[in-house]
Amino acid sequence: MKGILSCFSMLFLFISCNNTEEKVILENSKKGKIVYDMYEPSEMANLMNQMYAYNEGVKKTIIAGEDIEGFPLDFLKIHSAELSDFKKRNQTFESFSKLFIEAERELYNPESDLSETDRFNNVVNLCISCHQTECTGPIPRIRKLLIK
Ligand code: HEC
Repeated sequence: MKGILSCFSMLFLFISCNNTEEKVILENSKKGKIVYDMYEPSEMANLMNQMYAYNEGVKKTIIAGEDIEGFPLDFLKIHSAELSDFKKRNQTFESFSKLFIEAERELYNPESDLSETDRFNNVVNLCISCHQTECTGPIPRIRKLLIK
């Protein structure tokens, strides 16, 4: 329930999952206090934004018919990066991060039977699947990564 609430408030704050700080800022500004911008994205939020930017590049490369580079090892940080305060690593998160990393590895497997486009879309669909359980806010943005 808490998760659902945070994701709702997130919709009209930043399009992110990190709304704890913003809530404090809102409450303080209502009380007429001077508010400094204390928003500091978590390690995980930074990683997510990096993964987004990286995959935008991969999408362009695939569409252009050029060769994609090797598996981006930085993505393995998904297993250890610190989440925002209000979020906890749980079983669901762990299983989805494993599936996601497997899909990423498959994308860079030249022996795969699937086309590069299908493998890339599998990766993006796993981003979306995990977000459906954790945080729905960024989903419309993530969907734009899919290759039609
Ligand atoms: C295993 C689950 C999981 C997977 C897989 C996953 N995400 Fe996330 N994502 C999260 C969680 C949890 C957060 C919130 C992180 C936080 O606030 O600490 C998040 C946050 C985000 C954010 C918002 C970051 C911000 O500024 O607050 C974006 C954008 C995002 N993810 C994009 C992606 C993309 C693109 C992929 C795939 C390449 C992806 N995610 C894969 C769980 C996941």
